[in-house]
Amino acid sequence: MFQVPRGTRDFTPEEMEKRRYIEQNMAATFTSFGYGEIQTPTFENLELFTAKSGESIVNELYAFTDKGGRELALRPELTAPVIRCYVERLQMEPKPLKLFYFGNCYRYDRPQKGRYREFQQAGCEVIGVETSEAAAELLALAFTLLKNVGLKNVRINIGNLTIISAIFKRLNLLKDDQKILLPLIDKSQFDDLKVSLRDCGVSGKDAETFIRVLQTSEVNEIRSFIADDPDAVKELAAMETILGLLKNAFHVTEYGIKLSIVRGLDYYKGLVFEIDAPVLGAEKQLCGGGSYELVSLFGGTEVPTSGFAIGFDRTILALEAEGFIFPPLKLDVYIIPVNQDMICTSIEIAQQLRSQGFSVDFDQLRRGIGKSLKYADSKHVEKVIIVGPKELEKKTVTLRDMKIGNQEIVSITEICAKLKKT
Ligand code: HAM
Repeated sequence: MFQVPRGTRDFTPEEMEKRRYIEQNMAATFTSFGYGEIQTPTFENLELFTAKSGESIVNELYAFTDKGGRELALRPELTAPVIRCYVERLQMEPKPLKLFYFGNCYRYDRPQKGRYREFQQAGCEVIGVETSEAAAELLALAFTLLKNVGLKNVRINIGNLTIISAIFKRLNLLKDDQKILLPLIDKSQFDDLKVSLRDCGVSGKDAETFIRVLQTSEVNEIRSFIADDPDAVKELAAMETILGLLKNAFHVTEYGIKLSIVRGLDYYKGLVFEIDAPVLGAEKQLCGGGSYELVSLFGGTEVPTSGFAIGFDRTILALEAEGFIFPPLKLDVYIIPVNQDMICTSIEIAQQLRSQGFSVDFDQLRRGIGKSLKYADSKHVEKVIIVGPKELEKKTVTLRDMKIGNQEIVSITEICAKLKKT
């Protein structure tokens, strides 16, 4: 018996119906915000991912050498590929450039519920704009995407790496110290963080205040801790403007500042954010993003860039956990030829209805009316057409409403109009 590789999944037609529903709903939201879709290859040159993160990232990738000796990797995310494409082909496009994507990603993670080795992201990158309204719109878009698919309870947590860097500077923490501290902050491991801060020479009092500031949403508490760093004070004020627009213009209120959001990826700077679905427990992070720098690293002329990606699979898990009813996979019409002489006419009716936009199937197993009706019921079919010899003599068929259970004789030429009416 063969099985799917560890950390990957098959999707049945019912599951694909859910995925397509979410994909179509999200694509409509992205386009309503003025975004255009982009697609990049599933694999890239390995260097695209090691350029910023270093060789150690290879352990987390599906990296391989192809028959031509090229070092390649299945993409772990789409930000670097999209920026690579921008630098290669789109630099001359009018700004801002608003791009969205859906794509499979591959990470050598330890699989568990909500964490897979192959998973799908829906995301976007905005290139060439740095205003507060653009930042507020990015946060609002991420939130709206999740709300529009039907999620009830999601919350945006907003951090800022410029402010974190200012605090590190104030506490005299070196780059090497930060490499140890950032992952602890990212995972909210505050007890370990306290120990590590002490090891890095930070006083007990400063460590305690820092850890409190990482967890508070009180702007004043943060402001008093960073008061002697003008850049950080300015950044906090800019953040307040963005959040003001988010609340007063986009009318999104389910957010809070949380400086412990520092993001695991290496390219971020400034404002960063994550969106959680509390209903998911351990793997509750549905979305992550922020502003970042990659363009000049990839050889382009530096422009502001920001974006986010939503975990598609976790979005479905969250919807299921909230009890969302997905639209069922359904067939509009099922046609039953009563005997073999009726097959040709049944096919012609099916083709006619398909050309008018109905989803149609017909009994190809020649299993008779009773079993065919049972099958149609299991497929949530709304209307069944029974093609029988007596009716066909008068160029008519039997049209059965599967919900109500009644049936009527309808002229073949009128089936389409009749179905459209109902
Ligand atoms: P990320 O936080 O690494 O960010 O991934 C975004 C989302 O993908 C996560 O919030 C999570 O829902 C989902 N995800 C990540 N890993 C897995 C996994 N192993 N299994 C299932 N879902 C997963 C990025 O990828 C950035 N590129 C986002 C971005 C775009 N930043 C700027 N632009």
